[in-house]
Amino acid sequence: METTQNTLSGSDNAKRAAAARALEMVENGMKVGLGTGSTAAWFVRLLSERIHREGLAIVGVATSSTTVFLAKDLGVPLTSLDEAGTLDLTVDGTDEFDAGLNLIKGGGAALLREKIVAAASNRLVVIADDSKRVAELGTFPLPVEVIRFGVEYTRSAVLDVLSKMDVAGAQVELRKVRDGALVTDEGHYILDLHLGRIGNPSRLSAALNALPGVVETGLFIGMADTVIVGKAEGWCEMHFRDAPMDTSELMRNEDA
Ligand code: A5P
Repeated sequence: METTQNTLSGSDNAKRAAAARALEMVENGMKVGLGTGSTAAWFVRLLSERIHREGLAIVGVATSSTTVFLAKDLGVPLTSLDEAGTLDLTVDGTDEFDAGLNLIKGGGAALLREKIVAAASNRLVVIADDSKRVAELGTFPLPVEVIRFGVEYTRSAVLDVLSKMDVAGAQVELRKVRDGALVTDEGHYILDLHLGRIGNPSRLSAALNALPGVVETGLFIGMADTVIVGKAEGWCEMHFRDAPMDTSELMRNEDA
């Protein structure tokens, strides 16, 4: 059955509109990275509809076990990243994006696979609603994936790094679930860094990645090629990395 927007909330309408616009970029024969989160889930659903309606031949690479489950449930063909090699396009959500299309990702704890899949893609298209747009990154707690061994040492090393950075706050929390610490798909922990504001995301990213216990951060600097912002009314605003914000192309989404 096709997904309809008639009964959707404004937020879901916006996410669906962004996903539908991203879907227009998918062509027959493509290898497509499939993101994680509620916005990316809209893309997987609409992709599945196109596969079944038009016989669109694509193969997907999922960025998390959650997305593997969803794609399999919806009949979207999957392969591994190693089998696929370079991907044509990855479509993923975000927790924040700024005017330079830098991102904070990892609210869904999938940042490591998301970053590897994005790096292996010719194009990273981010789909979002207006709530993800920020003047400066850092309101959303920055997820950092860390090795489980010596996590308390790594936490104190992260705090030491933060004391030398241009940030507004420096609280570091181990992400928990009901049964204890959250364990990622790759078997690591997540530290959430409550920073309020990140003055220099590239410098922070480099300093955190230099710590031995840090696997990867949720800062995606210079990786997104396009951010599609869906609106509750069903249209989309397009932002391109190489174009300044004020020349953004406004797109009506015919599918909406
Ligand atoms: C997953 O780890 C994240 O990077 C998601 O892309 C992010 O949390 C966006 O999720 P929503 O689309 O649900 O807001």
